[in-house]
Amino acid sequence: MHFKLLLLSILFLNISLFAKHEDAQELFTDADCMSCHNSKDFAKRQNKVNSFKKLHKAVNACRFANEAQWFDDESLDVTNYLNDKYYRFKIVPEK
Ligand code: HEC
Repeated sequence: MHFKLLLLSILFLNISLFAKHEDAQELFTDADCMSCHNSKDFAKRQNKVNSFKKLHKAVNACRFANEAQWFDDESLDVTNYLNDKYYRFKIVPEK
């Protein structure tokens, strides 16, 4: 019984993560980010975007430069989406 509940909650977690990424992907597509970028732009590089924090800064810089009408939490969703899809940084909580 408990095992079923556990399975259900894991399933639900995965679905909500997927839904979040779907929204973020839509924001990303609608803002036409790929008019300048291709997937090769989005990779870890030494002395450049080399942490989740720097990735989020880069996303915000491009968001403001291109006047994407995103809320801050949406911008964070896009950063998470790009991180999971390309960069794969560990997310270190801020102190
Ligand atoms: C008008 C062209 C243009 C558009 C549109 C654009 N960007 Fe950028 N973006 C750039 C340029 C140029 C850089 C490199 C800046 C630098 O390295 O100093 C960059 C860098 C980045 C980086 C860092 C890449 C890396 O790993 O070095 C990210 C992430 C990024 N943009 C996300 C976005 C997102 C999200 C959007 C959509 C809101 C977007 N960009 C739209 C021009 C653009």
